[in-house]
Amino acid sequence: MEMVRLNPPAELNMPIGEAMFSQRAIRRLDPDRPITDKQLKIVLDAASKAPNGANRQGARFLVIRDRESIAAFGELYHEAWWAKRKDEYGWTPGQDIPADSPFKMAALLADELRQAPVVILAFSTGGMAANSVFPSVQNLLLSARALGIGSVLTTLHPTVMDLVNEMFGVPADADFHCCIPLGYPRGNFGSTQRYRTADTTYWDRWDSPPPWAD
Ligand SMILES: Cc1cc2nc3c(=O)[nH]c(=O)nc-3n(C[C@H](O)[C@H](O)[C@H](O)COP(=O)(O)O)c2cc1C
Repeated sequence: MEMVRLNPPAELNMPIGEAMFSQRAIRRLDPDRPITDKQLKIVLDAASKAPNGANRQGARFLVIRDRESIAAFGELYHEAWWAKRKDEYGWTPGQDIPADSPFKMAALLADELRQAPVVILAFSTGGMAANSVFPSVQNLLLSARALGIGSVLTTLHPTVMDLVNEMFGVPADADFHCCIPLGYPRGNFGSTQRYRTADTTYWDRWDSPPPWAD
């Protein structure tokens, strides 16, 4: 394959701090506002710029735009999401999820993914490990945020993988890593809550706090 040098697209003009600090899981996507091919090229170009082992570039992205395909994939996503909950908690599809559960919104995505404008599946070939794929996924998420496009990183479940691979002609040597629905947010990006880095960072030695700890 030919390698190219790319200039940053003019559309990616959001300050990197704003993109990083406002990027979050967007699960309520506007089904009626399309994402253009030009925007998809921008986020995939951004993904291609990420670090990866020995620059072997084994990450592969399958972009699903066809409405019928997304609807069909959405059924499998729904099955996969509930299969994960069954593994973890013994939950069954349609289980009443408490309003304060962290899974409440994720369950909503499992219902709504069928109407996402775009779904991107991230794979790798050549046995390339996940740690060479997720930097590119993060670039994709951040560049989508910079374009005002919402996204959420999700996974599937082994129970649906054969059907997914068959549905999209994925070769046997491609390893699946994650699923990223994309669309304009219904609502806004809002803010995220995270632990203080003073509590998650160690300085020179495990459990020794960084200088900004109280
Ligand atoms: C490995 C991984 C798996 C995830 N799986 C799901 C999922 O199945 N469904 C979902 O709605 N969100 C999923 N997420 C998104 C997380 O729930 C989200 O990043 C986290 O709650 C932080 O959300 P925030 O950035 O909006 O604060 C996943 C994220 C990661 C990194």
